[in-house]
Amino acid sequence: MTIGIDKIGFATTNYVLKLENLAAARNIDPEKLSKGLLLKEISIAPVTEDIVTMGASAAASILAEEDKQAIDMVIVASESGIDQSKASAVFIHGLLGIQPFARSFEMKEACYSATAALDYAKLHVEKHPDSKVLVIASDIAKYGIGTPGEPTQGAGSIAMLITSHPRILAFNEDNVAQTRDIMDFWRPNYSTTPFVNGMYSTQQYLDSLKTTWAEYQKRNQVSLKDFAAVCFHLPYPKLALKGMRKIMDKTLPSEQQAQLQENFEQSILYSQKVGNIYTGSLFLGLLSLLENSTTLKAGDRIALFSYGSGAVSEIFSGQLVAGFEQQLKANRMEKLDSRTPLSIPDYEKVFFEEAELDENGSASFTGYENQDFALAEIVEHQRTYIKVEK
Ligand code: CAA
Repeated sequence: MTIGIDKIGFATTNYVLKLENLAAARNIDPEKLSKGLLLKEISIAPVTEDIVTMGASAAASILAEEDKQAIDMVIVASESGIDQSKASAVFIHGLLGIQPFARSFEMKEACYSATAALDYAKLHVEKHPDSKVLVIASDIAKYGIGTPGEPTQGAGSIAMLITSHPRILAFNEDNVAQTRDIMDFWRPNYSTTPFVNGMYSTQQYLDSLKTTWAEYQKRNQVSLKDFAAVCFHLPYPKLALKGMRKIMDKTLPSEQQAQLQENFEQSILYSQKVGNIYTGSLFLGLLSLLENSTTLKAGDRIALFSYGSGAVSEIFSGQLVAGFEQQLKANRMEKLDSRTPLSIPDYEKVFFEEAELDENGSASFTGYENQDFALAEIVEHQRTYIKVEK
């Protein structure tokens, strides 16, 4: 049975921080960010946006009514959850009006868990070929002001519909995962921002890539020559570029090396303007590749490298389905360019604003009229989400 991605959607926030402005404010050479990290701008989430609102928005952009009737599982992968108990998937199930006899839950392992969600969705569809599974990767990446991670923040969601009649990417049966118990990046319950061993995390990312790729090639009897493109987890595009260089096979014909490199460039375009979206960033890379590459064709095999700190990594692949182009959007860049730029003081106010609860545990919010979905109020500690009527 063929199982894979039938639809893929993306949502981010309406605010953007231009990194040249951040560089000036932090007294950093702007080229450190534009060339050293390969980043241009990052999406900034106000207090009315979170993993629920962005996840609902990404999913709403792809789902038809018949999908909502067929979906019997909603999985949200995230490392920026809004509740330790109730899953964001349950809120999203309600906001989207998905039929009630569905399983909805959240998964966590840093930036990796969306890949585990896809694995689980695949197993579910294998058993229930008529069902559709909605997998959402949704996160807000937030580091401290003035930290090395600050320019690599971001916010966004990817939604994928997994079915037995995929019109975009058919998964292969070739996944190879690796776990190593390390402390490269983590966020204890009492902290709103993560603790990061920055350089160590980059070494672990690259070493996990090298060793998982070697094992993947051995187990599946394949090599880079069998792939049209490789997508990487994108904490910031420069690290993925180092990954691409690490696995590049210099014995391949120069045209194929150039094509792999060219497709890599297409895969980082959206991340360069959105920043890190943690669980979704690998799939934002896939979306960017699919919507911007001019050379990809049906049957091409694409490898995906997933990495979540802590750390779990996985490499898997899929084959492009004939007609995949028709499932994609053409105007994604225009939409990104229409976000409202924030000054540095506004960014610091907007991004780091916390809900101020009164003595009853309530707060109400304004200024969300341009969002698709919003956190409108908190009433006695209960978050109330709305679909914004426009
Ligand atoms: N002009 C051009 N380039 C410059 C420059 C200048 N003036 N000054 C510095 N650079 C280059 C550096 O040479 C370096 O490039 P190379 O890596 O090619 O050598 C690059 O800019 C970055 O500079 P630094 O090495 O000084 O590093 P940094 O201070 O920017 O910090 C980081 C980098 C530690 C990764 C930091 O961004 C960070 O802590 N990020 C958060 C953690 C992270 O993203 N880790 C990635 C792996 S973990 C993961 O993948 C999970 C996840 O999503 C978080």
